[in-house]
Amino acid sequence: MPFDEPWWKSSVIYQIYPRSFCDTDGDGIGDLDGVRRHLDHLTWLGVDGLWLSPVFPSPMADFGYDVADYCDVDPVFGDLAAMDSLIGEAHDRGLRVLLDWVPNHTSDRHPWFQAARTSRDAALRDFYMWRDPAPGGGPPNNWRAAFGGDAWTFDDATGQYYLHCFLPEQPDLQWANPEVEAAMHDTLRFWIDRGVDGFRMDVIHLIGKDPALPDDPDDLVELTHVPLNHRPETHPLLRRLRTLLDDAGDRMAVGEVYLLDTAQVAEYYGDDDELHLCFNFPPLFAPWSASAWRSQIRRTEAELGPRGAWPTWVLSNHDNRRHRTRYGTDAAARAAAVLLLTLRGTPFLYAGEELGLQDGTIAPDRVVDPGGRDGCRCPIPWDDSPTHGWATEDPWLPWPPEADVRSVDRLRQDPESILWLYRELLALRRHSRSLRAGTLELLDVGNDDVLAYRRQADGDAARLVLVHMATTDEVRVAGCAGEVECSSAVPGRRGAFDGVLAPGEAVVLRAG
Ligand code: GLC
Repeated sequence: MPFDEPWWKSSVIYQIYPRSFCDTDGDGIGDLDGVRRHLDHLTWLGVDGLWLSPVFPSPMADFGYDVADYCDVDPVFGDLAAMDSLIGEAHDRGLRVLLDWVPNHTSDRHPWFQAARTSRDAALRDFYMWRDPAPGGGPPNNWRAAFGGDAWTFDDATGQYYLHCFLPEQPDLQWANPEVEAAMHDTLRFWIDRGVDGFRMDVIHLIGKDPALPDDPDDLVELTHVPLNHRPETHPLLRRLRTLLDDAGDRMAVGEVYLLDTAQVAEYYGDDDELHLCFNFPPLFAPWSASAWRSQIRRTEAELGPRGAWPTWVLSNHDNRRHRTRYGTDAAARAAAVLLLTLRGTPFLYAGEELGLQDGTIAPDRVVDPGGRDGCRCPIPWDDSPTHGWATEDPWLPWPPEADVRSVDRLRQDPESILWLYRELLALRRHSRSLRAGTLELLDVGNDDVLAYRRQADGDAARLVLVHMATTDEVRVAGCAGEVECSSAVPGRRGAFDGVLAPGEAVVLRAG
């Protein structure tokens, strides 16, 4: 079947948090060679590309989201040669490579900031957002930083505040300055020239700011400024980024647009001239309930559809508790795999979800992240030996729960495991144009606990997806005929669907 959609619409992207993927040199921190070593896991699984969380030189105040040099690799992860090998070997396997580009802020150790803070007249002063204290003293406005405290830090040497929407070690760049834009474009070209296929753009909705820097509304400031920054200034910047990517040929951008309203997120696709894709976080925060998911799907279709904006779906990432932990049961994690891989849009998987990993419980003395997100960043167990396939028994964070029985090797030996379920679903999606590219219509099957939809594209049988989100009783659904192609609860289930779903079961049916 021809793949006539753009690759970023038909792909499934696998997020790797490199610190936690696999360590090959014994320092307890995952590295690029560890990613390269396990590329065959990705091809066996059947994903189409990988996104690497940041690997650039960094003091690691925010574990790499504080970049000190956009055009190099931090020694803890390897070097440029290791990155070139990884890109080359991924491409040899047909895997696309996305890097994580952090445009809103640099590290305070970046040479630009070091230069900017030397004096008020420094040549690079305007790379960042410096302001005088408010009349009467104190920060210039009431914006709150994402990890707590004011979004402004006073610089004694020059007597002004600088803005940081995250940590004080992450000063915000001033994108209104064309020199910043040009310098940041150069960093994209650097990686494009090395062959990367695209970028995940970190909190990209923050780059345009209201030049008047008005206070956030008092009743919302506890949210921090991050989800409140929704500004027209961002859009011309995105259009120029899109031109750069289009001119480089088939490169794509997926934006972390951290706004909690899908209608607002839709604006960042522009008129197909801004971001190719945007993450859509409201579904990630939705509970495991059929009514909640029906409304998430309805809103996503209604709010992105009219623009022709292609949706994305994500249940877990390095910033939030894993969905296996949030939803609470293996049954729900298995059914969620069916949901994630059959919705209309590009799915993003977070390394370890195919193992059904839960968040680790981190003892207080081992918490290292300023945002307390360590639990979802526990290392990936590759086998059931004491080192779990790492070069050390003692990685930077503790192993996740059940690391032995949920290691990649163990689950590969069990064709009924969640790992094989992901593989089966990825294959089903790859071979079905209806699932990859078809329309989505929500169905009423006469039971409120069952989320049901129909996917349909020309030239392929329609698929019906039924997700039973209650775990207590079996249920009977009405008007759903077809052959079972996949069941989350009964691995061998095939043949004509009899209208009955086990507790927590999700199925894909090939409509007759
Ligand atoms: C994004 C990243 C998060 C990081 C923050 C600041 O939300 O996903 O990990 O802390 O941006 O860069």
